[in-house]
Amino acid sequence: MPVAELDADALWPGEMLRVVVGGRPVVVVNVDGEVSAFLDRCAHLGQAVSEGTLCAGVIRCPVHEWTYDARSGHGLNPRGAALRAVAVTTCDGKIRLEVEDA
Ligand code: FES
Repeated sequence: MPVAELDADALWPGEMLRVVVGGRPVVVVNVDGEVSAFLDRCAHLGQAVSEGTLCAGVIRCPVHEWTYDARSGHGLNPRGAALRAVAVTTCDGKIRLEVEDA
């Protein structure tokens, strides 16, 4: 299982960051100090949601503006959509990401 570590200081509250783990793009978000990560693919047509915006805990895809809860990845509009979660742990100033094999 591909693993990556980031310095927690690299991602402040309100920020999102694209990283590549084991060849797979991942978007890492910090909402009020809570870190979540997802495969960086919109559920609609696969656009990188990291190229969109993160505002008030909502990720907005830049292409057709589908929106997702940045903590859970669940779709807000449309409701049935979802981003695929990536396992995150934070410890000793590090953010550890574990991406399932494709
Ligand atoms: S590709 Fe994201 S909303 Fe269409």
